Amino acid sequence: MADKLIIFDTTLRDGEQSPGASMTREEKLRIARQLERLKVDVIEAGFAASSNGDFACVQAIARAIKDSTVCSLARADDRDISRAAEALKDAARARIHTFIATSPLHMEKKLRMTPDEVYEQAKLAVRFARNLTDDVEFSTEDGSRSELDFVCRVIEAAIKEGATTINVPDTVGYAIPELYGQFIKTLREKVPNSDKAIWSVHCHNDLGLAVANSLAGVMVGGARQIECAINGLGERAGNCALEEVVMAVKTRRDYFGLDVGIDAAQIVPASKMVSHTTGFVIQPNKAVVGANAFAHASGIHQDGVLKARDTYEIMRAQDVGWSANKIVLGKLSGRNAFKLRLQELGVMLESEGEIMAAFARFKELADRKSEIFDEDILALVNDESMTAEKEQYGFVSLAQHSETGEMPHAHIVFTVGGKEVHGQSDGNGPVDASLKAIESHVRSGAEMVLYSVNAISGSTESQGEVTVRLQNSGRVVNGVGADPDIVVASAKAYLSALNKLHGKAERVAAQG
Ligand code: KIV
Ligand code: ZN
Repeated sequence: MADKLIIFDTTLRDGEQSPGASMTREEKLRIARQLERLKVDVIEAGFAASSNGDFACVQAIARAIKDSTVCSLARADDRDISRAAEALKDAARARIHTFIATSPLHMEKKLRMTPDEVYEQAKLAVRFARNLTDDVEFSTEDGSRSELDFVCRVIEAAIKEGATTINVPDTVGYAIPELYGQFIKTLREKVPNSDKAIWSVHCHNDLGLAVANSLAGVMVGGARQIECAINGLGERAGNCALEEVVMAVKTRRDYFGLDVGIDAAQIVPASKMVSHTTGFVIQPNKAVVGANAFAHASGIHQDGVLKARDTYEIMRAQDVGWSANKIVLGKLSGRNAFKLRLQELGVMLESEGEIMAAFARFKELADRKSEIFDEDILALVNDESMTAEKEQYGFVSLAQHSETGEMPHAHIVFTVGGKEVHGQSDGNGPVDASLKAIESHVRSGAEMVLYSVNAISGSTESQGEVTVRLQNSGRVVNGVGADPDIVVASAKAYLSALNKLHGKAERVAAQG
């Protein structure tokens, strides 16, 4: 029988640490449910001790998820570990993931601790966690830049204290595949009780090597858990991309000989959901989930694929969840058809009220756009979830005028704390005028660091999806809005970003 490769998803923890990727509790719950449908083995739901908000997210996910293990990160101290255990109390299967840095640089400059102090703290932390749950993961942060003999000592002690998974992160994305794989292998050979734990890899993508390093950790090193995130979301250049590493192991099973439990048909829906939710647009040539990943433009390739698909395709688009971009619903579709399509897309709205509100928006969209694709429905539901919450700012309506040679002018109506307000402004273009009209009232003082528009289903008839990234007092947030009118989509995206700036509490950083 082939070995099982455990897929540990950290989109909701490490992924959320990317500047601007912070998510609300409802958004995290929705993604957690999609990860469960994707059949990931472990969902790292957050870092419970980092803020009350994150505690509530881990708790809500622990209560909702039944098929995957739910995990919380915790620094190697009793308070963090107790918070993690408390948040995970109702989980069907819970894991506490505790970590401490082991590299000379991190110990001296960041922790200001001696190696002996780190060793003692790691031991006590694992002992404490193991008294609260049977499933304890221990990570040697900055492991790939740590001294072999010291890491061996710490890991041996952690396993003795009951750690069931040992993770050796390449925290700063410095590793090279062969060296990293060899490092894991040597650790496993030198640690006397190494066979008592599952070994795990956690690689960042600063040199674009996260997937390659993770696979080397598995094939050369013998690790049997990969930590990864949807779309490679994560600190700086991100984490190992789940979709890439999973499809590599599945497509080249002849080489890897490992079983992964992932339902690949859920990969693209998961990728879209994470992208819509965080506002991190997927580059078109991104492997597996990019819009061009299965597009053949050159005549020779097209000809080849028409004659025999496997001349130029190593995976089938539908196997990773690409739909045929077919028209799925229209303006005559009823509520049941809409509900059924939501189910097929794996979207679970919490209440009948939410379904009704989403259906009303669908009808509105169907009146303006004759062909409704899956992508439209996903964008609409995403938009709906933003307005369903009690947000500070909500879009009502927009009128704008632009004409060649004239200064564009916008008049917007939106809600602030439930009360309707009006804003007006001129601008360089209709989008600029509309956002300035919002600011004429809000005066957020935020700086816009990114504005992008993407056609959801490809044509000019499509809805435009706008991402806006705002920065204020060191905080970065992304807002997303979708509408057939890109000026309206821009205003919605801007209001969504303002809501995030308004609503999110400060939190402790995992690697801070
Ligand atoms: O990159 C890292 O080292 C981490 C740890 C907290 C596991 O994310
Ligand atoms: Zn990390």
